[in-house]
Amino acid sequence: MSGGTTDKGRERTFVLTGATGFLGGHLMAALLERGDRLVILGRRSKGISLDERISGYLDWFGLGNRRDRVETVESDFLRPLCGVSAERYEALRGGSWPIIHCASDTRFFELKRREITDANVHSLKGILGLAEDSRAPFFHYVSTAYAAGTGRFLCPESPGGSGEFANVYEETKARAERDIMAFCTRLSIPFTLIRPSIVYGDSRTGRSTRFNALYFHVKSLQFIRDIYLNDVRTNAGRKSREHGVSLDENGILHLPLRIFLPQRGSLNLVPIDYFVSASLAILDQAKAGFVYHVTSHDPKNLEELAAYCESFLKIKGIELHYGPSSGTVLSPPEALLDRFIEAYRPYLADMRSFDRAHTDQATGGLRVPGLTYENFKRCMDYAVAVNWGQRYKSSF
Ligand SMILES: NC(=O)c1ccc[n+]([C@@H]2O[C@H](COP(=O)([O-])OP(=O)(O)OC[C@H]3O[C@@H](n4cnc5c(N)ncnc54)[C@H](OP(=O)(O)O)[C@@H]3O)[C@@H](O)[C@H]2O)c1
Repeated sequence: MSGGTTDKGRERTFVLTGATGFLGGHLMAALLERGDRLVILGRRSKGISLDERISGYLDWFGLGNRRDRVETVESDFLRPLCGVSAERYEALRGGSWPIIHCASDTRFFELKRREITDANVHSLKGILGLAEDSRAPFFHYVSTAYAAGTGRFLCPESPGGSGEFANVYEETKARAERDIMAFCTRLSIPFTLIRPSIVYGDSRTGRSTRFNALYFHVKSLQFIRDIYLNDVRTNAGRKSREHGVSLDENGILHLPLRIFLPQRGSLNLVPIDYFVSASLAILDQAKAGFVYHVTSHDPKNLEELAAYCESFLKIKGIELHYGPSSGTVLSPPEALLDRFIEAYRPYLADMRSFDRAHTDQATGGLRVPGLTYENFKRCMDYAVAVNWGQRYKSSF
């Protein structure tokens, strides 16, 4: 693949990681759509080569005809030379392309600390090594707004939050930011930190390739609802009656569910189409050393989200309770939901807001599409139609 140029309006080449994931995949599609070329570093999975995975993804985006603009390189950032042959590495080095590092282990579980730290912190050695060896003109890191840490109300657009983190994911993302900043500053490699909040599907089409975060709550509620609908159909509603659950003549399931949260908060959500537009603008206008919050001006309060869930799932009875829940005996459906949402609880009770001056400047004040009920329903209808992503399992 020939060398790229960074001149605006001319064809460019980027090195991209994480292209088999949700954000990286959408970024890949948008960069190709506007005519850029990509060198994609990634890995094979379940016996499917990186090349096949990317081809499957391009087909999903209807971009099979851009395949010739993509070079795929199976890599392992924990191994010397990113795990590629000396010859291949030499070609990567010679490209001197800007790098977008979007690969990350996005799980929250403490039990997976070692793997998450390997992926999010130790792997940086390989990709930053490539930035150094290729004298990359820019290193863009896709981080998370929550790398700011939990102990703040207004999070500034400044790197590597310190203090407390809600989970190992946030902690390792903040550590990665600090490592990138130190490395790039020492070697005079211009860098940016692009920090999205919580990303959901396309606000215009409802399409998505991942169904966690916002989707996970709706899917959990749907799962609990279906237990009782099934009980009503097959067991004359015996368990439902025991648990105070009933189906009315309009088909609405009355499902009393108290959700206990430490405090009133809101969910900072942005659709993937906004993430992509904002990121393209940031890549074009990037200022070295800048942090960009790709976050919403208008976080969604939980009461409104609960009402969206009730309408979508045809249920009634969600109640949000704030403050200590000690001593409260949970009903069986409440206990089940409580277990499901445990890992996400800090985000449901989040009071942080995010300064967005850099992003507003780079994007010309581009507004984040609001999460209206219509957008929500479009996204959830799509999620249900693809069985929360199960249909994609063998494609990419
Ligand atoms: N989704 C969100 O709401 C959100 C919000 C804020 C920030 N972010 C950030 O956005 C970036 C992408 O997130 P996402 O939601 O797109 O995640 P995702 O769908 O889980 O995709 C993660 C990507 O990283 C790759 N990856 C994971 N572990 C790896 C490893 N050890 N070595 C090489 N590649 C590895 C995955 O490759 P495989 O496909 O081979 O596993 C995949 O391409 C991350 O940096 C994340 O922190 C996401």
